[in-house]
Amino acid sequence: MIFAPSLLGADLLNLGEEVRRVESWGAEWIHFDQMDGHFVPNISFGPAFVAAVRKKTDLFLDVHLMLSDPMNYIDAFADAGADGITVHAEAAEPAAVLEKIRARGLRAGICVNPGTPASVLKPLLPMADLALIMTVQPGFGGQKMRRECLLKAAEIRAMTEAARHPVLIEADGGINEGNAREVLDAGVDVLVMGTGLFRAEDPAGVIAEIRGGRA
Ligand code: DX5
Ligand code: ZN
Repeated sequence: MIFAPSLLGADLLNLGEEVRRVESWGAEWIHFDQMDGHFVPNISFGPAFVAAVRKKTDLFLDVHLMLSDPMNYIDAFADAGADGITVHAEAAEPAAVLEKIRARGLRAGICVNPGTPASVLKPLLPMADLALIMTVQPGFGGQKMRRECLLKAAEIRAMTEAARHPVLIEADGGINEGNAREVLDAGVDVLVMGTGLFRAEDPAGVIAEIRGGRA
């Protein structure tokens, strides 16, 4: 299992310190939620934030583009130092964008919102290395996980095994110490966690509990 703390939940006035904290928790990735105020009703970060964090850490930078038209931003995030870029199946030209992400040598991810069936991913998964399941309506941290979305993990696994093209399965939204075991048992490999870690008393302890299978 991989932990991807979402900086949307971090203390943005102390981003450098927050990156150090994430490293001290033993997390493997840092999740960046990029929002354009159009695809989702919020605006966040940008390539400059990724570039600034890139200078501070070797952790895998997992960029989640909640943009209506992501094609125009792939180079900017790749140049900023992203290791993986995930785009939405509901956004513009997902197949072409996945190929562009791969052409930049990055891990290509495809994401579905809660209201989008996993079957939409069938033509896109062959071009992807990762599938991201939104377990909240995207736009804001701190929401309650929608557990019915977890059923998509098994559907995605079935599609990729049939095509003999395994992908990492990531879940994003409302994940915390209390429900992480259920998320992992549904077949999810990567846990995006914002408030579930940044607002926890002992984030490193939360990760250790989940890793130890005790949570
Ligand atoms: C929501 C973002 C999520 C969010 C997760 O649009 O995509 O990554 O930051 O935050 P929590 O874990 O607080 O739901
Ligand atoms: Zn996200």
